[in-house]
Amino acid sequence: AVLRHKFVIKETNYTRLCSTKSILTVNGQFPGPTLYAHKGDTVIVDVYNKANYNVTIHWHGVKQPRNPWHDGPEYITQCPIKPGGKFTQNVTFSLEEGTLWWHAHSDWSRATVHGAIIVYPKNNTSYAFAKPHTEVPIILGEWWKQDIVDIYDEFLQSGGDPNISDAYLINGQPGDLYPCSKQDTFKLVVEYGKSYLLRVINAALQDILFFAIAGHQVTVVGTDASYTKPLKVDYITISPGQTIDLLLEANQPKDHYYMAARVYSSATGVEFDNTTTTALIQYKGRYTPSSPPPLPYLPYYNDTAASVNFTGRLRSLASGEHPVPITVPQTVTHKFLFTVSVNTFPCVNDSCAGPNGSRLAASVNNISFVSPSISILQAYYYHIKGVFGTRFPSKPPLEFNYTADYLPLAVRTPRNGTEVKVLKYNATVEMVFQGTNVVAGTDHPMHLHGTSFYVVGWGFGNFDKKKDPKKYNLVDPPLQNTIAVPKNGWAAVRFQAFNPGVWFMHCHLERHLSWGMEMAFIVKDGPTSESQMLPPPPGMPPC
Ligand code: C2O
Ligand code: CU
Repeated sequence: AVLRHKFVIKETNYTRLCSTKSILTVNGQFPGPTLYAHKGDTVIVDVYNKANYNVTIHWHGVKQPRNPWHDGPEYITQCPIKPGGKFTQNVTFSLEEGTLWWHAHSDWSRATVHGAIIVYPKNNTSYAFAKPHTEVPIILGEWWKQDIVDIYDEFLQSGGDPNISDAYLINGQPGDLYPCSKQDTFKLVVEYGKSYLLRVINAALQDILFFAIAGHQVTVVGTDASYTKPLKVDYITISPGQTIDLLLEANQPKDHYYMAARVYSSATGVEFDNTTTTALIQYKGRYTPSSPPPLPYLPYYNDTAASVNFTGRLRSLASGEHPVPITVPQTVTHKFLFTVSVNTFPCVNDSCAGPNGSRLAASVNNISFVSPSISILQAYYYHIKGVFGTRFPSKPPLEFNYTADYLPLAVRTPRNGTEVKVLKYNATVEMVFQGTNVVAGTDHPMHLHGTSFYVVGWGFGNFDKKKDPKKYNLVDPPLQNTIAVPKNGWAAVRFQAFNPGVWFMHCHLERHLSWGMEMAFIVKDGPTSESQMLPPPPGMPPC
């Protein structure tokens, strides 16, 4: 089927935490409208920009075969939609089934411009689990009392870390542990004995989150729109960009329970107050109040072991009825080692708020990405020279103990660049993300556009290219589009470059993206017309 939607991006007033401000929304809604489709459908979205600044919309995790033109990241696949402009985007759900989301992909407007995407199985096929009674998107987000445009500008000017948010949100609401928020608490009414599918999305700008439901174990059945082997857990860790599908059995005796999310922040010494957002699960027909309702146990803010303990247990389902959509590459044609680092640049004036009066930066293989002024995709297609280089390095410029406490000065300051990695059509790629301790070690949720990858291994310390590959899971690794590289550790992913086009890869922590922790792949056309990029659609926003 072909479905059509209208997205009007505009300012709308919202009140949270005792004050009102104008935020950027789609159709006046926050979080924005949910897109529903069946696998195989195409959704056409007419995006109108009624804001007074540039915006683009990205369909996070939708592979968009042969059609990078409608992917959305600004200056990568398109120029932004200018105020008063319009762009019609085709979103094709040929390869995914489950939960994804859409969000703005320019500056920090995704703080409020985001919503869920739900892809149902094709007609006459079914879920990989018993059909739940009800399905509910659970969108985790952040709220600042200040205007997000001001937060972003101050962040750029100071050269330091951005102001932390004033609240975390569940479906746009902080929950009643925050001031003035009793009314602003999401409530899920359940019936005893029934099962519920929670489609959890982390739309927060800056933080990986822990999430749990008091008194209930939940069963993970999917992540990033691909089924997983059922996994019973007490809590989950979810990265910005990631989605996790949870089955909840309403089988507990009390009338109310909290669900809650809180920050997982591995950076040393960063503990913030007031970071627990809550929502209520209310059992229908029960009136004996259990007050206060029980709060779930959530791991401590810097509990890296708890974080990887969850993430490391995900396995793709790979069953006969629900096989993996793309096979796991058993051998690879290309091997890359990419360091992902927070760095510093020297500061010319003394207003810089980074360590020792420097300006914070970030890099992949010590190149801090500089956004071009026309899109890489357009420059590639029309052979426009001087927009990007094709010399993105396959390995870091220097080999060292990346996670040691003292690191060579040479890697502290990255070089600026707009470099891409060119891949042959159908190349099979192994990409190892190596975290470093250059300025400060922390987790990096790395996200790839245009395909999902198999997470075949991960570990702490330096990746050992002799020993570690022997421990890879090449049987049932999880198929994801975002993987949190653990603090002072590494993660190895494999994918097949089946999708011709220009595809962005970046850390999904917004501050790291703004500092330059990103690069792009160009996947070349294949030999047949079905393996070639589509021509540019009409109405691409002008640069
Ligand atoms: Cu959520 Cu570049 O994407
Ligand atoms: Cu990062």
